[in-house]
Amino acid sequence: MINKCLLPVAGYGTRFLPATKSSPKEMLPIVNKPLIEYAVQETVEAGLTRIGFVTGRGKRAIEDHFDKNYELEDQIRGTGKEDLLQATRDLIDQCEFSYTRQKEMKGLGHAILTGETLIGDEPFAVVLADDLCFGGDDGVLAQMVKLFDQYRCSIVAVEEVPDDSIHQYGVIAGEAIHEGIYRVTDMIEKPSIEDAPSNFGIIGRYILTPDIFELLRNTLPGKNGEIQITDALKMQAEQGCVLAYRFKGRRFDCGSIDGFVEATNFCYEKFYKNGL
Ligand code: G1P
Repeated sequence: MINKCLLPVAGYGTRFLPATKSSPKEMLPIVNKPLIEYAVQETVEAGLTRIGFVTGRGKRAIEDHFDKNYELEDQIRGTGKEDLLQATRDLIDQCEFSYTRQKEMKGLGHAILTGETLIGDEPFAVVLADDLCFGGDDGVLAQMVKLFDQYRCSIVAVEEVPDDSIHQYGVIAGEAIHEGIYRVTDMIEKPSIEDAPSNFGIIGRYILTPDIFELLRNTLPGKNGEIQITDALKMQAEQGCVLAYRFKGRRFDCGSIDGFVEATNFCYEKFYKNGL
């Protein structure tokens, strides 16, 4: 059973300056809900309620968001506004949150390795809140948890990405073993279009088996001088098995202004416009 999820949230979000000068990028709202809350919601819907944040300087607002605010709750008690906090309160009640700090920004692999202390020796999920995902009946992480129950190995979520943005992703090569499921044979972090082994880019949803930590300890700095999870996963794929899963649903790259605006319009239409 997987019940832990790691959320790396130490990044600066420089693409959103000045909004992110003193507020965490994960607290930017899509309509009226911060990105990080969508991520935690997806995680809880997948049955994972032990949430570990790998955090950094200037990220206190995230801790406060997932804590009770007695003064505010007292203020709005008995008013219609109480309902606006209900979903957040439910998440707080269902989850156990823990935090550790990434002292230096040395890449996603380094962030995940920093989270080892919150995870221990068990399989776990990683969710990048920048990637906002909506599945069908099952959320994207829930789909991956089901797959893990079947295959018991690390899984990365992938989607076809256009040629002109392939250099922004970890890219896989794989052999199809089932519809939408590939056994990974190669992985490259942010390749040029010429070097890309396919057009399947990894999005911010992972399930990892705990041997990844030892592999990360042995991973040298790669692309951009950072410790890349992609490089550790490539080693894992060579030694055993890593799957790539073409998830069902839609994903928005909320780390970019265009994706953020698209997600805002989508959520406004889908959830808020008609008071749903
Ligand atoms: C990270 C990973 C990359 C992955 C991407 C998904 O990159 O290193 O492999 O494709 O997340 O969002 P980042 O976007 O943090 O540069």
